[in-house]
Amino acid sequence: MKKILVTGGTGYIGSHTVVELLNSGREVVIIDNFANSKPEVLERIKKITNKDFKFYEIDYSNREDLEKVFEENEIDAVINFAGYKAVGESVQKPLEYYSNNISGCLVLLQTMKKYGCKKFIFSSSATVYGDPEVVPLTEDCKIGGTTNPYGNTKLFIEKILQDLYISDNSWDICILRYFNPVGAHESGLIGEEPQGIPNNLMPYIVRVASGELKELSVFGNDYDTHDGTGVRDYIHVVDLAKGHISALNKLDKEEKGIFVYNLGTGIGYSVLDIVNAFEKSTGKKVPYKITQRRPGDIAKAYSDAKKAKKELGWEAKKNLEDMCRDSWKYIENNL
Ligand code: UD1
Repeated sequence: MKKILVTGGTGYIGSHTVVELLNSGREVVIIDNFANSKPEVLERIKKITNKDFKFYEIDYSNREDLEKVFEENEIDAVINFAGYKAVGESVQKPLEYYSNNISGCLVLLQTMKKYGCKKFIFSSSATVYGDPEVVPLTEDCKIGGTTNPYGNTKLFIEKILQDLYISDNSWDICILRYFNPVGAHESGLIGEEPQGIPNNLMPYIVRVASGELKELSVFGNDYDTHDGTGVRDYIHVVDLAKGHISALNKLDKEEKGIFVYNLGTGIGYSVLDIVNAFEKSTGKKVPYKITQRRPGDIAKAYSDAKKAKKELGWEAKKNLEDMCRDSWKYIENNL
């Protein structure tokens, strides 16, 4: 059977997607350099799925190493999760972000081309919409207006992929724009492990609940939202992972093209909605204080998730309670 190559397959979204790929009977090859993940994840994926896969500890931007992977395996499609993702860090280290995320992706696409592999799924982000003119966001909404190097890398790669498809329409490309992934696998074996003090909301909340951090700072309560705090579209990472399987099934069909889908629930929750839901579903207290707005933040962003439902037959199934419970379970298991 031809294999699916997953770059960054031991990371947060990558590892959950590998689990779903293996569960759906696919053969998987993972490459990762553990820039933001740990080798234990490999064993944990095996434990969850009871299935095996090939693994190469390499950097996806190393052409020689990557070519070896294509020499040794018949790769049918590539799902690209490799890339740096910390917004604040990207502002401090733009060259590292542009080099790793963009040059790395170019090496990957060139290598795919060399070996005649033209099915590609790209992890993009709702960040490409910038500050939305309207919500819910449909895939046709204007993109651009990204405010940091991380966001720019997502936007630029989307453009590179569009240009690539124009030049050669035998490529089959799916761009997935993730909203806010949270939660963890229900086994508690894999989840999100940000290095240092987390920037994103749910990783911060779980560390407050565990006592590791004192209190949550809620960044502003004067936004034009139902309670004044920022509204986002949180999606359970397992639902998100399943979205990739649906995208891959689409690429398996004859019709070639470049397709863009939002992966979100279509529901917007505020920061305080999340705090309340977390406390209710876990029984843990999350002390918080209201502070100033975080520069660069927007009031509301949530998806119109209808296109993925119609064309991929995919929709998010897990609710906010599942997201909070599973985020907490992973931390409890791994403290
Ligand atoms: C952030 C990134 C976005 C990235 C996404 C990945 C920024 C400006 N954007 O989006 O590019 O794709 O993560 O999930 O960083 N909040 C608090 N206190 C906290 C942390 C967050 O109140 O300690 C609030 C924020 O103001 C926001 C909401 O929680 O309203 C979600 O924040 P976050 O998890 O950082 O995600 P985004 O800002 O949506």
